[in-house]
Amino acid sequence: MQKIVRTKRSSISISMLLVIMMVFSLFTGIIPTAQAAVADNFTAETLTLQPGASAAAMNFAWYSDRDDENNASTVKIAKKSAMNGETFPVNATVVEGALGDATAGKSWHKVSVSGLEQGVEYVYSVSNDKFIYSEIYEFKTGSAGSFTFAVVGDPQLTTGNQDSTSNYRPNGEIGTTKQGWQDTMSVIAGKGVNFIAGVGDQVDVSLTVNEAEYANFFAPAEMKSIPFSPAVGNHDRNDGFAYHYNIPNEQSFAILTGPDYGNPSNPQAEAEARGNYYYTYNNALFVVLNTSSYPTSTAAASLVVARFDATLQTAVSANPDYDWLFVQHHKSTASVADHLADRDIQYYVEAGFEKLMDKYGVDFVLSGHDHVYARSYPMYDGMPDKTGASGEPNVTLTMGGDGANYAVDPKGTVYFTTTAGSGLKYYELFNNAGNLYVKDNIYYPYLVNGLFGSVEYMKGNIPLSTAKYLQNKTPGFIIVNVNGNEVSFAYHDLSAEYLNTPYDTYTVTKSGQNEEVIVVSATVSAFVTKLNGNKNDLTITVTEQLSDGTTNDIAVTFSINNNAADTYSVGPYIVYVDTKGNDQIRDCRIVEMAEAA
Ligand SMILES: [Fe+2]
Ligand SMILES: [Fe+2]
Repeated sequence: MQKIVRTKRSSISISMLLVIMMVFSLFTGIIPTAQAAVADNFTAETLTLQPGASAAAMNFAWYSDRDDENNASTVKIAKKSAMNGETFPVNATVVEGALGDATAGKSWHKVSVSGLEQGVEYVYSVSNDKFIYSEIYEFKTGSAGSFTFAVVGDPQLTTGNQDSTSNYRPNGEIGTTKQGWQDTMSVIAGKGVNFIAGVGDQVDVSLTVNEAEYANFFAPAEMKSIPFSPAVGNHDRNDGFAYHYNIPNEQSFAILTGPDYGNPSNPQAEAEARGNYYYTYNNALFVVLNTSSYPTSTAAASLVVARFDATLQTAVSANPDYDWLFVQHHKSTASVADHLADRDIQYYVEAGFEKLMDKYGVDFVLSGHDHVYARSYPMYDGMPDKTGASGEPNVTLTMGGDGANYAVDPKGTVYFTTTAGSGLKYYELFNNAGNLYVKDNIYYPYLVNGLFGSVEYMKGNIPLSTAKYLQNKTPGFIIVNVNGNEVSFAYHDLSAEYLNTPYDTYTVTKSGQNEEVIVVSATVSAFVTKLNGNKNDLTITVTEQLSDGTTNDIAVTFSINNNAADTYSVGPYIVYVDTKGNDQIRDCRIVEMAEAA
């Protein structure tokens, strides 16, 4: 307790501070609390929230300067309503976590807090030494029922400017990626999201950890109050992903190295093996997959896709009661710009990535990588379900799609691609002037009218999956609302045109979701039918009152000898009946209900 505070934090020691405050109390009669004594606040570095292992949990991650005194990771947390000004209540929860070496001169800190209540505003503060706590931050947990989240991709923070062709020039000139990201985050926060689902390329430099880029990525204050679930993009393949994020339910896989995975020396193999994880939010399950690597054959991609299979299997087994299944990953397989004909994506598809979405009945795939917005038709077995569509998408250079903006019980998966979240760069559509990365792919992508390959694509034949797309050269994001049996998507960007009015909306409804009813109560009746000899028929009817206002009768007839007193199984119920006078009922009651009832 009598720990000396280093001068970089404070010019006086905590013990001195306590003495001063005790002297102060002699004169005033006010007893300072322990919390008041440690109000030597500091700003936590690169502080971020990730979803916890369950809906009642939250994960925290931050950095500190690496030294002997920064030797712990704790989060102090309380309901905001219990705070006395800036002072935490005496019974505030303190949770300890882990720390380790990050890049030179830095330590990473990670803490997971569980047992949170729904729909509650919390305040929290972090400490690197269990003693001195940071300034106070806030977040609010989601309520039961409907929720809203944002999808952002490819903020790909640099220390430089946005794309030179950007249409987004709020001050009349092109801003930095840091500013673009801040603007995007501000708008997203204003839309009241519960969390943000990332789809990769959070930072730009992939071979080494560029902390200046990470600092820019975590700079918006919203990162400290809105949980962010990151995916590993090809640009995130460095140790920074492991240092900076505290992801839940991460799956462990062996490192794959060698020429089949892109770079023969493959210095990024470790990052390519991590980042497969899952989390839940109310009635939805989110599975995050790592498509950052560059397999050079279908066989090589198959080993990666097998990891996705295992991750999905684990996730759905652990959470079998979800209504909606989302997959987040980076390299879109259903896009419309420069990455469209890339062979690594072709190999992922040939290795069964999309078939896996069919296998698990994934409702929605959220992705990025192509720095453009695109939405697919519901896709199953590689083919689009155009039920409700008004026709083929029209083909223009910047935007297109048909008018179908809803689907009821679609068979298949809807794939979304979202554009650059900070405006770093934008890829062209149908560009045959040189930007398509792979111009000689004769196998991929699969296009409308049975065509395929780069050359046909560059003629303006769009992928057969494409329902809607936009290249507005403006930072954009998707807002998703999950409300029971209905999920609605709205694509916005920072332009005046689409800031408040979405460019694209899409709603999927599962008509069977609300048909589930439960038994509210059950009553039983019985009667005896007199037969010849000493045999009678006993008919027992259990009438269930259901939650939708209807009733359900379960009637079973048993053969009994004269009068009988016994128990009988009627559906899930055990019923006791005692008869008299051949055809009279002396007693009739449910004595036990099976669990299913
Ligand atoms: Fe990117
Ligand atoms: Fe990418």
